[in-house]
Amino acid sequence: MDRFRIGVLTSGGDCPGLNAVIRATVASAHTLGWEVLGFIDGYEGLLSPVNYKILTMENTQGIMSVGGTIIGTTNRGRFAAKLGFGEKAQIPQPIIDEAKKTLQDLGVQALVCIGGDGSLTTADQLFENGVPVVGVPKTIDNDLSATATTFGFDSAVQCVADALDRLHTTAASHRRVMVLEVMGRYAGWIALHGGLAGAADVILIPEIPFSYERLADFVKNRMENGASSTLIVVAEGASAQGADFTTMDGETNGEKRLGGIGNQVAHEITERTGRETRTVVLGHLQRGGDPTTQDRILGARFGVGAVRLIQEKKFGCMVSYLNYQTGAVSIKEAVGQLKRVPPGGQMVQTAKAVGVSFGI
Ligand code: F6P
Repeated sequence: MDRFRIGVLTSGGDCPGLNAVIRATVASAHTLGWEVLGFIDGYEGLLSPVNYKILTMENTQGIMSVGGTIIGTTNRGRFAAKLGFGEKAQIPQPIIDEAKKTLQDLGVQALVCIGGDGSLTTADQLFENGVPVVGVPKTIDNDLSATATTFGFDSAVQCVADALDRLHTTAASHRRVMVLEVMGRYAGWIALHGGLAGAADVILIPEIPFSYERLADFVKNRMENGASSTLIVVAEGASAQGADFTTMDGETNGEKRLGGIGNQVAHEITERTGRETRTVVLGHLQRGGDPTTQDRILGARFGVGAVRLIQEKKFGCMVSYLNYQTGAVSIKEAVGQLKRVPPGGQMVQTAKAVGVSFGI
């Protein structure tokens, strides 16, 4: 009898921990006697020219601690499913049909899609078209509803904290203001957690539009009262009250690329306080490198959870992580709403309680 075959793919922007999920999926499937096909470069591998490789215990050995994804990914191409804040695009039916046929021809009986909101929207569309799909939530942004956290987030936060530690010594030596621009799109989780872990003095997030006047007053007071430096973390999606997001040239997946707010903040501070200010844009360093142990463990739990969902035939569901347990939620539910920082939530209150300013 033919072995039960499943497929796995990684889609959207990469993040640390993808390989941990792949390894756990393969190891867990193998204990059940299943075969695993890894589709190359995300959903693109399902389309002509079809591209996959058989994933074995041998070729997934030693990848747990390695960043990136051994099967490649893309956040553009024929399957791009996201347009902008809250906008979702439909994948054209011929593309869906071709992917379905590939899976049928290869005898793939279930597909594990590891991705963020755009990629999981695509997974859900495949499911609606009869493909037995399960999802695994991935993104450094941590902006997916229905899961307390996504893997990759902790590694990104670690990167922000490391950067702040380094910036602190140089800022203090020069009595400077340093602005660190971090990723996160329309959610401020990376800035908030990274800022708190790295002892930032100011954290600017999209959920709390800030005032340049209040920000400048805060910086001025601090420095006049003897602070040797001021560290400001600004999320790429943050904006001043009444202003729009700051965007760069170029698009990803039909969506404008965010970025540039760090320089604007630095410029305004120098103008308004006369303080020497420098900007660092942390960029893709947050997505690269080794996963933290927390992301490795979460990745392992998610991979095992995905195989369990297949065993239980919970198709159209995504592995979630709530109350320290992995479980299942419908993908539709998970991608329907962006998870953003509650401005009155405990994390913001904690930061305020240790003297962090949100520029308001
Ligand atoms: O969604 C993850 C993310 O890293 C965002 O934080 C960031 O805005 C975006 O992807 C960058 O995408 P790209 O790698 O296409 O520049």
